[in-house]
Order: sequence, then C-alpha cells, then structure tokens
Amino acid sequence: MSVTVLVGSQWGDEGKGKIVDILSEDYQIVVRYQGGANAGHTVEVGDQKYVLHLIPSGILRDDVICIVGNGVVLDPEALLKEIDVLAKNNINVEGRFFISDQTHLIMPYHKIFDSIQEKEKKIGTTGRGIGPCYVDKYSRKGIRFCDLFETETLIAKIKENVKEKNVILKNIYDHPGINAEEIITQYLQYQELLKSYRKDVISFLSDSITAGKSVLLEGAQGAFLDIDFGTYPFVTSSNPTSGGACTGSGIPPTKITDVIGIVKAYTTRVGEGPFPTELINETGEKLRSIGNEFGATTGRARRCGWYDATLVKHSVTVNGIDSVAITKLDVLDSFEEINVCTAYLLNGEKINHFPSTIENIKSVIPIYETLPGWNQDITKCKSYSELPKNTVDYLNFISEKSGFKVKIISVGPRRDQTFFVD
Ligand code: GDP
Ligand code: IMO
Ligand code: MG
Repeated sequence: MSVTVLVGSQWGDEGKGKIVDILSEDYQIVVRYQGGANAGHTVEVGDQKYVLHLIPSGILRDDVICIVGNGVVLDPEALLKEIDVLAKNNINVEGRFFISDQTHLIMPYHKIFDSIQEKEKKIGTTGRGIGPCYVDKYSRKGIRFCDLFETETLIAKIKENVKEKNVILKNIYDHPGINAEEIITQYLQYQELLKSYRKDVISFLSDSITAGKSVLLEGAQGAFLDIDFGTYPFVTSSNPTSGGACTGSGIPPTKITDVIGIVKAYTTRVGEGPFPTELINETGEKLRSIGNEFGATTGRARRCGWYDATLVKHSVTVNGIDSVAITKLDVLDSFEEINVCTAYLLNGEKINHFPSTIENIKSVIPIYETLPGWNQDITKCKSYSELPKNTVDYLNFISEKSGFKVKIISVGPRRDQTFFVD
C-alpha cells in the first residue's frame, strides 16, 4: 500500500501527466490537490493524445478513481468541456470521478481580474482566474463546490461578491462591471450537471487508505512556481510542493509513504520571472524545437535552458523527494556537449544553494560543467542497461549533484517509452 505524492521539481511541464498515467497502473485512486485549469498534463495512449487540466491523469485507466481535492480551484465550465472531450473518446468518468465539497470555484469575475491585473503587473499567468480565486478563498469570500447545491446560499454569495467586485472594477479599473443575474443563471445550471460528482472526499480517502488502497497525489505546476518556495512573485497562487498534498486533500502527513519528483533532463519555464540557465540563443531554440516546448494549456513557447542541479537540489529539500522520474532525456540525443549548472556566482562569490530573494535569483550567474553528449537515438531503449554510457554518466552526474535517486526514465512521450531502474 502506497500513498505517494508526485511533484514537479522545476517550473512545471516536467511530464507529470505521463508519469501519473504510468504509475496509476498500480494505484487505485489519483487525487489532484492544488492548482486548477492552469495545469496542462499530457498523456499519450497509442495514437491518442490527451491534455488534462482538472481531471487527474489517472482517468485514462478504467479502474482508477479520480478525485479533485479541496486545495484545487475548480472551473465548472472548463471541467464540463474536459468531461465532454473524454466522453467523445469513450472515456466515461461517471462513478469514478469526484469533487470535494470544500473545493473553491472559479467564477467568471476571477478570469476578468486575472486578465486586468496581468496588464498592470506582468506575471505571465495562464489567464484561468487562479490567483483571484485563491485571493477570495483566503479572504473568506470564496464560493465552494458545496455552495453550488444550496440555491439560496449560492445566489446570496454571488450577489455579495459581484457587488464588491463591481465597486473595484468600476472605480479602479474603468471596467463596465459584471452582471450577477447572468452568473446566477449559469451557475444554477451546474447544480444538475455536477451533482453526481459530490463526495465526502475526506472519509472516502481515509477509509480507502485504511482498507489498504494505494493513492497517488498528482501535483500540478512545480516547486519553483510554489507561492512560498518559488521565485515569488513570479509564481502561481498555491503550494505544488509536497506539503500542499496534505492540506489540499485531507490526507494527513502520517499517511504519506513517499514523494516522487518529476525532473526534466533540462529546464523550461513559461511566463515571466528569473531563470538562471535560460538559453536565449540557437541552443535554447534547438531544445524548444526537439522537445516541442509549447504550453499544453496556452500554446505559449516555453523558455528553455540547461539542467540546473542547484535548482533541483533545492526542490529535493523542500519536497523531501525520495526518488525521481527523469523525463525527456531523448531530447538531448543530438547535442555534442551538454552543460549542467552545478553552482552559481553571486556578486563574484560561488554559492551552492538557490537564493531566497528575487534580486539575487535574478543576478546569479550559472557555473557550468560540460559533459559529452551521446549522439544516439535513445527513444527505443527499453531498459537502463540499453542506455549509452554517456547517457548513464549524465544521469549519474545530475543525480549526484542534485542529491536524488533515479527510479523511472522516460525517453519519449508514449507509455512504452518508459522504464524503471532496478
Ligand atoms: P506536465 O504538465 O508536467 O504533465 O507536462 P506537459 O504535458 O505540460 O509537458 C510535457 C510534454 O512532454 C508533453 O507534450 C508530453 O507528451 C511530452 N513528454 C513527456 N515525457 C516525454 C519524454 O520522455 N520525451 C519526450 N520527447 N516527450 C515527453
Ligand atoms: P503544469 O501542471 C507551467 C505558470 C504561468 C505563470 C505562473 C502563474 O502543466 O506543469 P497562474 O495562471 O497559475 O496564475 O500563472 O505560473 N504556470 C505554469 N507553468 N506549467 C504549469 O502547469 C503552470 N501553471 C501555471 O505560466 O508563469
Ligand atoms: Mg503542463
């Protein structure tokens, strides 16, 4: 029996969806514990490619139960679209997809605020209303999934929120304002459409764990987008790091058995904010084009750079990572030489840790060690022993520098392009 937390170790898009899909063969339940439709988790099954935003990536396995935990911010409109896409592909979520009563709902005004505030202070958000919804949650004005089913409460809460938002929209942002009645009509429709997904998630997870079922907690985003541990303010508004898995699901820390970090073999980032090993040159473009580094949610080009061992070492620390899945190793197949950042220069001094202030993160200069590439196609490798020597050396080097043990290796987007390390 395992209760495993799976986390992104860099700036998101490490390949979490693919690894959740692989692992969920051995888990009965998969839970999303934070974030919302800002996530884009890709799973390729046969010729079919799925991008999941809100529904856990375990949904592609018929016998897995999928849960949206209380820490998620749920956009009903985005969810219904996702359910529809799955249904068109003969994947039925009924009876095996559930939402916690305590999950906060994304409202139309959250997306309006997200877009207006982006113009004022550029973070490069996904525009999905994530930050404004978490603001309402923490200022105790949020509307939760349970509220959807109490008509009077729902109407009163929408009216109260819209009244307040309109004062801000009209007086501060020169916006014409929003109409409460339209939102009420829209959200009342969700009562019928979403009622079958209600569940007492806390009891269900607790009873399942007691009964010996295995649970996989699927993190969205990554450690450096974490509201506390990331490159603040260029972060998302939740805790993707492993601690968030408990507060976002109701599973207590004493029940967690292990933490798996997903680590991309190089580094990418979408949106604004410092990125010490970013390559704004032909090498960066080569990584982007071979790795097809374009956002699964927004289609934006991802910024690309060399592997940063100092960054991932920090992620291992804050997440308590026990083992790692290395993804996209094949993307490095055609590089003659591969650089790895092993330390930084900060104001002329060598440092071995990730700085805590945004000013210092912006001003560090990466110190690289250069390793020979393997100049070979590894996408057909089926086991660790089939990997070229230089690939194994690269894996040993980055795992030693970042302080982790490699458990899974991914050499392509498909299920069969994955193997476990003994
Ligand atoms: P997530 O947000 O962490 O789930 O990652 P995304 O789905 O946003 O981005 C990862 C992308 O890389 C997807 O297009 C995957 O299909 C793809 N991918 C995952 N693992 C591998 C791999 O090992 N090699 C290659 N070439 N692509 C991969
Ligand atoms: P997955 O789960 C990569 C980034 C946005 C922006 C910042 C804040 O697919 O790895 P937000 O909309 O959350 O307020 O945006 O966070 N971001 C992601 N980057 N992968 C993601 O999710 C992301 N979710 C948010 O680009 O910089
Ligand atoms: Mg993604």
